[in-house]
Parts: sequence; structure tokens; C-alpha cells
Amino acid sequence: EIKKLAMIGCGSMGGGMAQLFAENGVHVSLEDPSEEAMDGLLKKAKEQGFGDKMSKHTDYKSLCESLDSPKVFVYSLPHGTVGDSVTDGLMPYLSKGDIVIDCGNEHWKNTERRQGKCITKGIRYIGCGVSGGYQAARRGPSMCPGGDDESLDLVLPLLRKVAAKDAKGNPCTGKAGTGGAGHYVKMIHNGIEHGMMSAISEAWSIMVTGLGMSYDEIGDVFAKWNSEGELRGTFLVDIGADICRTKDKKTGERVLGTVEDKVVQDITGEEGTGIWSNEEAVDHHIPAPTLAVAHFLRLASADRAQRERAQKTFGGDFPPQKLDVKDKAAFLEDLRLATYGACLAAYIQGINIIDRTNKDLKFNIDFNEVLQIWRGGCIIRADYIAEMLYPIFKDFNHIDTMNLLFESGPAKDLKKTYQAMKRVVSAAIAGDHVVPAISATLDYIKYSGSLDLPTQFYEAELDYFGSHMYDKKGDDPKGAPTTGKYHYEWKPA
Ligand code: 6PG
Repeated sequence: EIKKLAMIGCGSMGGGMAQLFAENGVHVSLEDPSEEAMDGLLKKAKEQGFGDKMSKHTDYKSLCESLDSPKVFVYSLPHGTVGDSVTDGLMPYLSKGDIVIDCGNEHWKNTERRQGKCITKGIRYIGCGVSGGYQAARRGPSMCPGGDDESLDLVLPLLRKVAAKDAKGNPCTGKAGTGGAGHYVKMIHNGIEHGMMSAISEAWSIMVTGLGMSYDEIGDVFAKWNSEGELRGTFLVDIGADICRTKDKKTGERVLGTVEDKVVQDITGEEGTGIWSNEEAVDHHIPAPTLAVAHFLRLASADRAQRERAQKTFGGDFPPQKLDVKDKAAFLEDLRLATYGACLAAYIQGINIIDRTNKDLKFNIDFNEVLQIWRGGCIIRADYIAEMLYPIFKDFNHIDTMNLLFESGPAKDLKKTYQAMKRVVSAAIAGDHVVPAISATLDYIKYSGSLDLPTQFYEAELDYFGSHMYDKKGDDPKGAPTTGKYHYEWKPA
């Protein structure tokens, strides 16, 4: 049983988790470059009646002396080199069997590099994705640990105790897989999160400008979407209702109305999961257009100055317009299904990326565990989608070539959204609305299931100028993609 641990990094996430562990009876030794942050936490702990469960430390020696054997360290650090310098700094004080649980949004390759380094000294390094934001960190986040079995067995009793619980009271944690699997799955969680947020935001924008709805009305729509049907129990829709309705306590002003339309990606290295998940999709040859376009929208949004300049070039001629909608209720139902379709596609694409990498890199990912980890506390939790995926995932680990598009549940549901999505995208195009995630999903559905793609011509062009080689119609329709066997001298020299 873990009775003491060190929390390295006491920012909003680390601070929340430090209180959570202390509240659960674990003594937490704090370490952070900011004494102010540590003092703030000590004060909070005292106020909440568990002041005796926290101490602060300004050097690794005293930090390590405050722990039992094996020593347990929880990192809540920015990704990149910080974890390396912390690990290097701790190294002289570490002994065989000590455990690091890295709870940052670390890149899985950094995690595996550190695991490789630590294992030579017998130190256990677990990469654990933590989701839910700062409030969940305090109350109980979704926790996605990956590493060797034995190490996971040592920390899971504690993680199960503190992690978020699903509606049945089961902890939203488990063994994600080996090596950097925990951080890998968390990274893809964030990619899915961004695809979903784009789709929901696109729907919000259509309701505001296209349908001229008030924020209160939209709040009611989101609340309804969250309470029944395919978007049931979808955290991002649920908070969408709150976001629409919230008024500033001091000014009475609608807070959302004051928010600038910029989603900045911190290029200094604070966060990178959205970028990495798209890199993984490309690296492992998985089409993930909903995730990709959501990210590009975000990138374009971030640089408002560029948009201002481009607006001058374009003459500002196509602002989103009021839509010509005859039956508002029917259109809102289309919008609900279109939003759901894009959220589901984000899930499908993300899971397809995990599955492929799992096979390529042998992460031994257990999809049932992943689904349980995503069942509560995390940002992408979506009750209806999870319930649909449970029976599929039961056999998932044994399927050789996985693609959720083959599975009747998700495939049938995507198909069900198709006509609605088409009507929404048509209306959005007519009214100059920005709908990248929804429209990319529509195309994704079309091209994923089509045997008559424009790429016939693409392939011919490649062969014309590059002797790329092509397959002839009817060649090798099954199996893994292989490059073509034929070349034609389209224009003899
Ligand atoms: C979570 C979130 C969180 C992350 C945000 C913002 O699961 O609680 O994913 O980990 O901080 O997604 O991250 P980006 O700025 O990288 O998108």
C-alpha cells in the first residue's frame, strides 16, 4: 500500500492531485520551483483538514528522505525536457524498485526513453495520462497508466481509489498497455477531444448566426442533446449548455459573448497532444480527417492578425449568413445528428490510430480497459458511444485488422447521420458557414466506403510523370495496400 508519495510539479493539475491524494490518506511531499505554489497548497490542505498529510521540500535530498521505500514520485510537469532533468536530478537518490508515475501530457516517446533509462537501475517508470482538467484533478480524474504489468499492479490500488468513478461506481482507470501506451492513449484522447470540440463549436456557430438563436436557446438545445439520444452523456455537450447560459457574476454580461475566437496552441511546448495525434495518424497511415481539420481550424484561429490581413484580401465578402431554414425543429435535428456523426467519426478515427499503432509497436493495449478509462472523468466521455463500443471491444483485442468502420454499430450509426449531415453541410455551404469537422466527416464517410474514388485519375497522373506504377482494375482488391505493377508510357519521349 502506498502511504507516502512525492508530487513533483504543483501547478493546477499537480496541485489538484496532491490534495486528492492527501485527502485519501496518502502523505504528499510537495516539490515545485514555486514556493508560493507549495505554500498555497499547504494552506488549502490545512483548511480542508488534512494539513498533516502534506509537507514541502525545496531539494531532492529532503524530498526523498521524506518517503518510504519504495519511493513513489508523481510528476505533473510540462512535456519535453523537464521530466528528463527532474529524473536526472532524482537519480542519485533513487534505488531499485522506486516508482515514478508521470502524470503529465508527456509525449509517449519521451516516456519510453525514460522507461529505458530507469529500467537499467531497476526503477519503475509509468506513463499515466490524466484527463478532466483541474477540477477533476482535485475530485478524481480519469487516469490512463501504461507500463510493465508488475509496476502497474503496484500503483493501481491507489489509482483506483482516487480516480473518477463511472455511473456504476467503477474507477476510470486500468492497465492501458505496456511501455508508453498510457501516454499514447491519452494523446489520442486529446485528438478525439479536439475533433469533437470542433464539431460542437461548428454546430453552435450555425445556431447563433445561421438560425439567429439566443445563447439561452442554444443552451437549452445542448442540454437536450446531452439528455437523450446519441449525444447522451457527452461531457463536451453538457458543458456547452453551461457555457451558453453563464453570465458574469459581477457584470451580468454573457461570458461566452466576451470570448475571442482564438484557440492558441502553445508552441513553446506546454501542450502538444493535438499535433502529435495527427502526426501519429499520418505516420501510421490512418485517415483521420476529423481530427486533422479540427487542428487546422484551431491553428488558423490562433493567428487572428493573419486572419485580419486575409480578410482584407478576400474583401470580407463571405461572412456567415442567416440560413434559409423552413423547418427549424427539423434542421436542429439534422444538426444534432451531424454533430453526433462528427463526434463518432473522431472516436472511430482515434481508435483506429490506437489499434494500428498497437499492432505496429506492440503496446498490448487492452481496449476494454481504455473504454473504462474513458467512461468517466475525462473530456471525451460520451455515454451512448461508450455503450455502443463495449460489446465490440469485448472481442476487439483478438481482431487482426481492426477498423471501427467495419463494425455494425458505429458503421450503422455513421450511415444514419449521413443524410442529415449532407443537409447541414449543404446549408452551411450556401450560408458561408465554417464547418470543417462536419464536412470532413461527410467526405470521410463517402470515401471510406466508396469503390469509385477520384484517385483513379490521381494515380494516372502519378504514373504519367513519375512512373509511379498502378494496379489495373480488378487487381488485388483484398489485403494490405501494395504498390502497383503496371506502368504506361503515356507520352513516349
Ligand atoms: C484533458 C485535456 C487536457 C489538455 C487540453 C488542452 O484531458 O483534461 O485534454 O489534458 O490540457 O486538451 O491541451 P492542448 O492545448 O494541447 O489542446
